Amino acid sequence: MDQFSFTEICLHQLKMSGVHEGEKLVVLTQGSERLDYADAFMAAGQRLGAKMYHMRLPAVPPVGAWAVGQTGLAAMPDAVEALKKADMLIDCIFLLFSPEQMAIQAAGTRILTAVEPPELLARMLPTKEIREKVEIGGELLSKAKVMRITSPHGTDVTYKLNTYPTITEYACTDEAGRWDHWPSGFVFTGGDDDGVDGQIVVAQGDILLPQNMYVRDPITYTIEKGWVTDIRGGLDADLVKSYMGAFNDPRGMGMSHVGWGMNPNAKWHGMVPGEFPGGMGMEPRSFYGNVMFSTGPNNELGGPNDTPCHLDIPMRGCSLFLDDEPIVIDGDIVVKEMQMERH
Ligand SMILES: [Fe+2]
Repeated sequence: MDQFSFTEICLHQLKMSGVHEGEKLVVLTQGSERLDYADAFMAAGQRLGAKMYHMRLPAVPPVGAWAVGQTGLAAMPDAVEALKKADMLIDCIFLLFSPEQMAIQAAGTRILTAVEPPELLARMLPTKEIREKVEIGGELLSKAKVMRITSPHGTDVTYKLNTYPTITEYACTDEAGRWDHWPSGFVFTGGDDDGVDGQIVVAQGDILLPQNMYVRDPITYTIEKGWVTDIRGGLDADLVKSYMGAFNDPRGMGMSHVGWGMNPNAKWHGMVPGEFPGGMGMEPRSFYGNVMFSTGPNNELGGPNDTPCHLDIPMRGCSLFLDDEPIVIDGDIVVKEMQMERH
């Protein structure tokens, strides 16, 4: 994408995020990564009259696996203090799950993560409609006490929902202290620490993140009292177990966030070779009617588990019930007020 077009989509983003004249914005990058994002956001912010600067951290050596929650900000408390004073932080590093992000949000700074490839940002722009529908989903989820997920492949799992807040992601943020991720379009919460039980069968065509892989043969998870107690299947199950084992952290077997996708602009097939622009898989997390569960940390929701071992697994064709009311049936959203036209 050329820099002019990049600036235009960033301008749309900042308008959707309520940026106005005189607001203090910081765009955060690291090493030589995403400097073009910083330029595009700065140009867009200036056009809206924001007071804006670019904070660039030194490069860090790659950590190998996708270890969430560890950031270059940890060693720089002065930088964290500066970010707490901003109205909005545009995070082009990926601070999610870090204590630094939590401290910055708690100080009232709203945060927008933007790390996905520009072509994906452009294809999944935030819209008022998606925001409205996701907020309706968020309200339903926040009132629910029990979530049950089933599938024709044998999934039948129950999450008790008495502990954690509901998080909405609609790809822009105009409220103090609120975080969002561009692109997105889904809602989630977490089950009680000891309140997830049942079986999940990840079926062919479901997606493993951060592996960025379509599952080829089923993976069966057994879950008891909030913990995965068994993972079995073929090659894909072996890969998952080997990946998780490398963290050498039993807390990776905890149950993390759970919810459903609502973005009609996100495509299930968006990760096939030749289509996939790279990145961390926000498109498969968001596709309309997916049901996504995850394993590992729940500190993002305020929970005690801060393991860096985290998988997100969006699934097709599932049914999801909140207090026995159908929300998603066979991979399609059935609540009228949340439905959107797939393009
Ligand atoms: Fe996740």
